[in-house]
Amino acid sequence: MSADVHLPPGPRWPIALQGAGYLAARRRMMDVLHKRYGSAFTVMLPFFGPTVMISDPALVKQFFQTRTDVVRAVEPNLDLVLGAGSTFGLQGDEHLQRRKLLVPPFHGKRMRAYEGLIEDETRKELSTWPQGREFPVLPSTMRITLNAILRAVFGAEGAEFDALRKVMPPLVTMGSFLAFLPWLHHDLGRWSPWGRFLGLRREFDHIVGSLIDRVSADPNLDQRDDVLALMLQSRYDDGTAMSRGDLADELFTLLAAGHETTATQLAWAVERLRRHPDVLRRLVDEVDSGGSDLLQATIHEVQRIRPVIDGAARQVIAPTMPLGQWVIPRGYTVQVDIPLTHWTAEKYPDPDTFNPDRFLNANPDMYAWVPFGGGTRRCLGAAFANMEMNVVLRTMLREFRLEPTTARGERLHNRGVAYAPSGGGSAVVYRRAPGYAVASARSNSVESCAQTMSKSDSPRL
Ligand code: HEM
Repeated sequence: MSADVHLPPGPRWPIALQGAGYLAARRRMMDVLHKRYGSAFTVMLPFFGPTVMISDPALVKQFFQTRTDVVRAVEPNLDLVLGAGSTFGLQGDEHLQRRKLLVPPFHGKRMRAYEGLIEDETRKELSTWPQGREFPVLPSTMRITLNAILRAVFGAEGAEFDALRKVMPPLVTMGSFLAFLPWLHHDLGRWSPWGRFLGLRREFDHIVGSLIDRVSADPNLDQRDDVLALMLQSRYDDGTAMSRGDLADELFTLLAAGHETTATQLAWAVERLRRHPDVLRRLVDEVDSGGSDLLQATIHEVQRIRPVIDGAARQVIAPTMPLGQWVIPRGYTVQVDIPLTHWTAEKYPDPDTFNPDRFLNANPDMYAWVPFGGGTRRCLGAAFANMEMNVVLRTMLREFRLEPTTARGERLHNRGVAYAPSGGGSAVVYRRAPGYAVASARSNSVESCAQTMSKSDSPRL
């Protein structure tokens, strides 16, 4: 190791103990280490290896601005299950070129095109909600976000839509489970986890193959709004198009990355709002009168206090990487601990308190509010997720009265990819009397939502 290396302090526990602690109680372990060592510490983690965890916004800023010849995506990564053509697996120039193709379809200004179909999917799902008895909203939000991506991103309809709705949930669940267990990646037939996963993936490829044929043959291709149609028409700098294999891997990636994350974040919104009746009351008033500032602030605050993804990681590939007072050697992982950043930044006094007012009419700080990661690999779907959460919550508040509760907050439940509320975001609702909605409400809030997104959440290269 180079003599210049200067690592933050960290536990001297046996490596096996650090690994076991991480696998069994990752959030608790990070809290303990943060209390003991502060906003940068070195730890040995399964999958990531020797890792420097950071949560100081100044370090986060420097980290996200680090050049791609100094850090790259951690390898191996999710491309093990998503496929070699997935954005997650691409590095350096290939990654940059792919993002150039994918950023425009996900730009904040384009999101209005999807609001109607998401409202439509939400209304359909809300029509199944029981009144007056407790139920978890997570299965519902999972169905809404699945259908939203299949329609808005895949452009799927009819038989293909139904077939994908069937194959995607088990494919994503198995993929999340297998992503962190590479030693199970052996095809021992349909009864082995990897064999079953590959079978589902073949089914997915078959359906997506005919979807690509149908969409590319559409005589109105250039008038379509779905992301697949835009990807089919996009060209790399050298004039070539994405290959069919890459298109299939990318569609799988967008669904896997965007479906459960947004659904669990929505479940947390319900969980937090039921425990904050004052905010809930103000939100209902705002939604009824056609505004959306508090709703946007609420979404930001839910993502601050209950981020569903807890880390954004890179691997050091240069001989050393300077980071504040530290010098990290090649081969180390550096990871932004998202919850610690959100709970300890000086920006957020009283960080344990759910207080959307801290974001009212103020864009979040790019390095102290990082639920979507940052830098060249910042979440591609941030504007889509923001718009979707806005539409789902607004529609829910218009249609139902959400009953507050004095029950304790739900605990974090690790679902593999995302942290969900342990009770699935349990709710009690009553349908509101018809005729309450203000006719202009939708267009007003749509306008303001699109403006906010293009300012704060538009994906960056
Ligand atoms: C609340 C919902 C969501 C959350 C919290 C979330 C969070 C994240 C995070 C933390 C990253 C890693 C960023 C980094 O390493 O710096 C990421 C990457 C990514 N997300 Fe999201 N995401 C959400 C929704 C979506 C949606 C709706 C889509 C697409 C439909 C999407 C597509 C992606 C893709 C493609 C990447 C990889 C970007 C790259 O490596 O260049 N995400 N997301």
